[in-house]
Amino acid sequence: MTTTTLKTRTILSLLLAACVHAAQGAEPLSIDQRVTQLMKRMTLEEKVGQLTQYSGDADPTGPVAVKGSLRDGISSGQIGSIFSAKGTRSIRQYQDLALQSRLKIPLLFGLDVIHGYKTTFPIPLAEAASWDLEAIERSARVAAIEAAAAGIHWTFAPMVDIGRDPRWGRVMEGAGEDTYLASRIAAARVKGFQGRQLGDTDAVMACVKHFAAYGAAVGGRDYNSVDMSERMLWETYLPPFKAALDAGAATVMTSFNDLNGIPASASRYLLRDTLKGKWHFTGFVVSDWRSIEEMTAHGFVANNKEAAQAALSAGNDMDMESGVYRENLAQLVHEKKVALADVDDAVRRVLRKKFELGLFDDPYKFIDPERERAMLNKPEHRQAAREVAAKSIVLLKNDRAVLPLSKSIRKLALIGPMIKLGVENHGYWSVTVPEVDYAHQAVSAWDGIAAKLGKDATLLYAKGSDIEGEDRSGFAEAVRVASEADAVVIGVGERWDMSGEARSRSKLDLPGVQEELIKAIVATGKPVVVMINAGRPLVFDWTADHAPAILYNWWLGSEAGNAVADVLFGDVNPSAKLPMTFPRSVGQIPIYYNHFNTGRPAPNPTATEWVSAYTDLINLPKFPFGFGLSYTTFRYADLKLDRQTLRGDGKIKVSIQLTNTGKVAGEEVVQLYLRDRVASVVRPVKELKGFRKVALAAGETRTVDFTIDKESLSFFNAALQWNAEPGDFDLMIGASSADIRLQSRFVYAR
Ligand code: NOJ
Repeated sequence: MTTTTLKTRTILSLLLAACVHAAQGAEPLSIDQRVTQLMKRMTLEEKVGQLTQYSGDADPTGPVAVKGSLRDGISSGQIGSIFSAKGTRSIRQYQDLALQSRLKIPLLFGLDVIHGYKTTFPIPLAEAASWDLEAIERSARVAAIEAAAAGIHWTFAPMVDIGRDPRWGRVMEGAGEDTYLASRIAAARVKGFQGRQLGDTDAVMACVKHFAAYGAAVGGRDYNSVDMSERMLWETYLPPFKAALDAGAATVMTSFNDLNGIPASASRYLLRDTLKGKWHFTGFVVSDWRSIEEMTAHGFVANNKEAAQAALSAGNDMDMESGVYRENLAQLVHEKKVALADVDDAVRRVLRKKFELGLFDDPYKFIDPERERAMLNKPEHRQAAREVAAKSIVLLKNDRAVLPLSKSIRKLALIGPMIKLGVENHGYWSVTVPEVDYAHQAVSAWDGIAAKLGKDATLLYAKGSDIEGEDRSGFAEAVRVASEADAVVIGVGERWDMSGEARSRSKLDLPGVQEELIKAIVATGKPVVVMINAGRPLVFDWTADHAPAILYNWWLGSEAGNAVADVLFGDVNPSAKLPMTFPRSVGQIPIYYNHFNTGRPAPNPTATEWVSAYTDLINLPKFPFGFGLSYTTFRYADLKLDRQTLRGDGKIKVSIQLTNTGKVAGEEVVQLYLRDRVASVVRPVKELKGFRKVALAAGETRTVDFTIDKESLSFFNAALQWNAEPGDFDLMIGASSADIRLQSRFVYAR
């Protein structure tokens, strides 16, 4: 049967069933009723099939992409979801097979669409630096439009793990160290991915991951164990998940780690008690890649059968890739080791999403090659990517106003191993789309700058060094080229794949001899701008102290080079602020701004003896959380609180006057921090509780408002109750966590 005939027949039979139902004068069935009817017809093996996911092909350009074993599994209804298949052509092949199965239950297609599909946006940590929720939502929206047009129903994003340890390579996928900022961003991403509603052909289901506490892996070593207090879990690590779920996230992925001795994929506490119990989550849970099977290596279960039993019983609905549900669940139910009711609950959750997506009404609704062609890489998507990329660049230093560079510069030297990189700018976790000339879809810094300057300027180039290795043979040429130029831009950093999954590092310096290259160029005395590509905070003390200007560019996606040029030449005024603290040395890690005061706080940054400090290091980060410069300056003035006492469920209205005191328009992220002076459990020295990103013309003043309520003051007490305690609070408003411009105090009374 041809694909078209199959499609037409399936849709006709579905329509016929609906017409018969309607002709009988019946009310249309609810999704739950439809699920119940379907489940009545399913064998136990077919039910288990719905809980089974395998990865498909990653290369849909071959004639028939589906592998033999998958083919049989799908056409016999024993596989419910495929991930990593992409593109309507490939996905159609899989869906055709599913519709040959007895009950014709459509497949669900998932993919890691982390920061864009065809048009890539900055890596998530970079986007977090924008502190621009609208821009972040737009980025997820574009990713969803493109992915859905390519046949995808479901993205494995957003990743909301709090990252306080830059040795952990996966900090690049998250929103940084702060729970409040990460929670706001989590919600924005979910809204962007899921759009107006599931079932629209421009929306994909979100999957908030990795549940839970994966970011706290001991030593920053990926997949490592996590041991933390429940209070820390609830206060710091769980809120971004809750925020994503409140925003409607349809699914959740478990994490690889064990949490206090229990692997997360079989944690009844996390999955049944918290997620499905306390939080009333009605979507479904998918394991991480083979994380169920890996519980034998953890030493939590003896074999795959026990792994399946533990995971399903704990509330893990779908098995990604390990196949242990498929092999064991039916038998476990027969042996009464797994309750049929638990299996049914899991199946119901998965089927409900398939109905919500509209797949039973039209299994091919996301498969429209014309829409795919029209949507991928649209000019407006590229434009959005360029804007978000420029918003993600952090200006770390700008001595003697080296930046912005003048567009009428005559000779500009571009030096370093990153300058001419093209495809690498897509960054880790980008989706490759083989049908198009992928390598040419990301703009290098060289091309972006050349396009900006046109023919009147001369661009000089020397690579200088590789990213890694000891080869210094290119230094002399780089110094010669720099000496000839009016200014120099150096591009250095981590290779794009040095931060990401399984990319933990014990050293965070600029790799290879790149910092030596910077030293050699700075020694020429030319105005030097250092641009750093990385997926995490790096340690580059010499550069931070000696290079006149530094831009932290992370990995910026398809439009990287154009965005860099926009910022270098002042068409965009940088406005990003660091979402993670930058350490001075690896020995300071984990380092984060919202630490406790301890009983022996250091009275000043150089104090060492008998206070909480290191004897061999100043007690400050290199760059603090929330820090980032602009080409203009801002004055913070006139802090007002409409009352000094917050009672019960009341509110305090806070306002300041923000003035752009420079000569160019700019955006400032005004940050509000609170400190609870005395409480039944010790509280952080400051906690972010609000922020506003404000655009001001040169000379303009605006009122910036915040509201403080009981929620802003609440925390988990020793009994794990979320509550605010009466007493004094410090209120701090500033341009970073370490640059507090205005302060006040207020009282909370019940
Ligand atoms: C493993 C990763 O931990 C997870 O984030 C990802 O979604 C899956 N692999 C699928 O690629």
